[in-house]
Amino acid sequence: MTGRIVGLGSYLPPRLLTNDDLSKMVETNDEWITERTGIKQRHVADGIEDKASTMACKAALQAIEDAGIDGSEVDLIVAASTTPDVVFPSVACCVQRAIGADGCACFDVNSACPGWVAAYNTVQSFIESGNSKCALVIGAEMLTNYVDWEDRGTCILFGDGAGAAVLKAVEDHPKNKFIMKASAERGDCLHCENMKQPKRFEEEGFIKSTNMFMAGREVFKFVVTEIPALINELAEKYGFDINEVDYFVLHQANQRIIEAVAKRLNQPLVKFPMNIMNTGNTSTASIPILLKEMKDDGRLTPGKKIVFSSFGGGLTWGADYMVY
Ligand code: ACO
Repeated sequence: MTGRIVGLGSYLPPRLLTNDDLSKMVETNDEWITERTGIKQRHVADGIEDKASTMACKAALQAIEDAGIDGSEVDLIVAASTTPDVVFPSVACCVQRAIGADGCACFDVNSACPGWVAAYNTVQSFIESGNSKCALVIGAEMLTNYVDWEDRGTCILFGDGAGAAVLKAVEDHPKNKFIMKASAERGDCLHCENMKQPKRFEEEGFIKSTNMFMAGREVFKFVVTEIPALINELAEKYGFDINEVDYFVLHQANQRIIEAVAKRLNQPLVKFPMNIMNTGNTSTASIPILLKEMKDDGRLTPGKKIVFSSFGGGLTWGADYMVY
């Protein structure tokens, strides 16, 4: 059995933070941010109505509706979040309550930005081993709670949101193929200590020491080297032709990174969907949010050959090949 995506959902909080808004907070401007990242705006959660767990619930409910199933049919929920508002229960357990799937297996995974890829592959393994027939895989993130709002090199990049997919066990569907990697040796260029600050970034008393640290240039180099190599390795290992791939759905971290990967793979940019201009980097949520957008606008249709790939703190990186 293979898990087939039968429903997708996403949620972006209503408050927008534009590049012009940011230019009032740090020394930056719309031109610099657009040219270096492609980002024009990002959505920011309020931390009250919208936090990782509640955004996860909203995306999950939409995915269930999109799949046309009842929440009680879900027998496994795996959520990925690097910024959960709850230490416990897991975000997955919060979602279970919201969708009415009492009794099913629930847990979270943390693999930084590739967390949704790790969660997706975990779900696929449960399905292949016969331990799940209908599963939810979620990425939910409130990175704006961890960003140093005085560091113009990082605060311009991140946004909040959640994305979810329902996977059903089906026969006669191409098997999911994946590779996941990590290199802790190289992890110092991107890290974030656990949240201790109780306040939002606008308030006094925001404690800076727990903010994210990123050496942007190093991360950039790591990604543009490792991701094309990983996708080529995936194609070679499983014997598919990357020229036949319809879409490369990459973690939305930086438009220039995506353009560099396209160039190194010798693939046209049109095969690399992007929504980073509207969302910023939403970490684990970025791939399912983009898949949902592609489904809504008609790009994602049954039979499409998709490679998705993500990268982030750890360092961690991974890629999948699936037929939608
Ligand atoms: N506005 C104006 N100037 C800026 C800004 C800003 N927002 N940020 C940095 N600068 C300045 C720097 O101070 C520096 O000035 P200097 O030359 O006078 O010292 C200059 O711009 C160049 O800075 P760099 O950091 O070298 O700029 P770069 O071109 O590398 O762009 C960026 C920075 C956008 C962060 C880029 O390195 C990048 O995108 N890296 C990858 C980051 C990434 O993808 N992270 C996500 C993966 S992990 C995850 O998702 C959690």
